Amino acid sequence: MNYDTRLVPYDRESISEAAELLSRGELVAIPTETVYGLAADALNENAVKKIFLAKGRPQDNPLIVHISSMEMLPPLVREIPDTAKALAERFWGGPLTMIFPKSDKIPGVTSGGLGTVAVRMPSSEAAREIIGKCGFPLAAPSANLSGKPSPTTARHVFEDMNGRIPLIIDGGECAVGVESTVVCFKDGRIHILRPGGITAEMLSEFGKVEVDKAVTAQPEKDERVLSPGMKYKHYSPKADVYVVNAHGRAFEEYCRRSGYESLIALGAGAAEKDFFLDYGKTPEIQAQRLFALLRKADELGVETVLVEMPERSGMGLAVYNRLLRAAAFRVIEI
Ligand code: TXA
Ligand code: MG
Repeated sequence: MNYDTRLVPYDRESISEAAELLSRGELVAIPTETVYGLAADALNENAVKKIFLAKGRPQDNPLIVHISSMEMLPPLVREIPDTAKALAERFWGGPLTMIFPKSDKIPGVTSGGLGTVAVRMPSSEAAREIIGKCGFPLAAPSANLSGKPSPTTARHVFEDMNGRIPLIIDGGECAVGVESTVVCFKDGRIHILRPGGITAEMLSEFGKVEVDKAVTAQPEKDERVLSPGMKYKHYSPKADVYVVNAHGRAFEEYCRRSGYESLIALGAGAAEKDFFLDYGKTPEIQAQRLFALLRKADELGVETVLVEMPERSGMGLAVYNRLLRAAAFRVIEI
């Protein structure tokens, strides 16, 4: 790993170059509508191994396989449940990842040794054009160093991946800002392993929805979790993050009296003064801004980040889930 990393805008030329590098088993960081992905040929074992090296990612944490058309799905999986077909029709391309029993085409490194594979079709035009040009599916985790906040701009990717990969395609800021919703199908239910842009409320039109308990609770040490990614420390800036269960004035007063000296406070629709920053009034805006603000805490070099409790339904559940992990589950009750 000693590349002269280039950051280039998304256009005809860069797409061809990305596809060429990916065909040769190299890594390319690509934009998607959720967060930037660190892509490799999902069917090439050696290429996929480079992802784990570049990120410093634990080998047992499986990757999401990205496709650009429905015809790419059947060869990757052993079975497509009817509910999955309906969900694909309604929500693909978009921020929804579904878990299927995997076919032999998917190497063990891609699926983290599991018998299942996670597949998603992004809506991002750049992502789909690159996959289309490649003609093979791309394994792509978020393009951050393992444990760091996911990248929502090409500059974030460059901060983490400079020297580790040959190419970053700049497609602008990610529209959703948090990673895709991950679901599996269990006991006739749609089981949410990771909340995201496709919400429980949206999925409930298609069947009974269950939210995995690991979404909002800290897994016990050594507990088996359905989604291996849930057990790792995540999205963490160097600062200590705390979720504060208070709103508006009460949140502001708590932060002022907290006694922390080197801090920022992220308020929902807060006026930006003193150490307060606005992380957005609606869960959709909060999702867009959250990871960039966690990175900003590091740039500012503050020791503490206090965050106003988000809504815990709809898109708010995805924000809450990421915040809990960034905060190592520290919630301050007022
Ligand atoms: O929006 C996204 O999904 C982004 C962009 C780049 O597409 N990708 C992403 O990948 O977030 P990553 O690797 O950071 O997160 C993948 C999540 C992890 O929590 C992982 O454990 C889970 O999906 N996962 C992958 N394969 C799985 C499987 N077979 N069974 C259960 N969980 C799986
Ligand atoms: Mg990630």
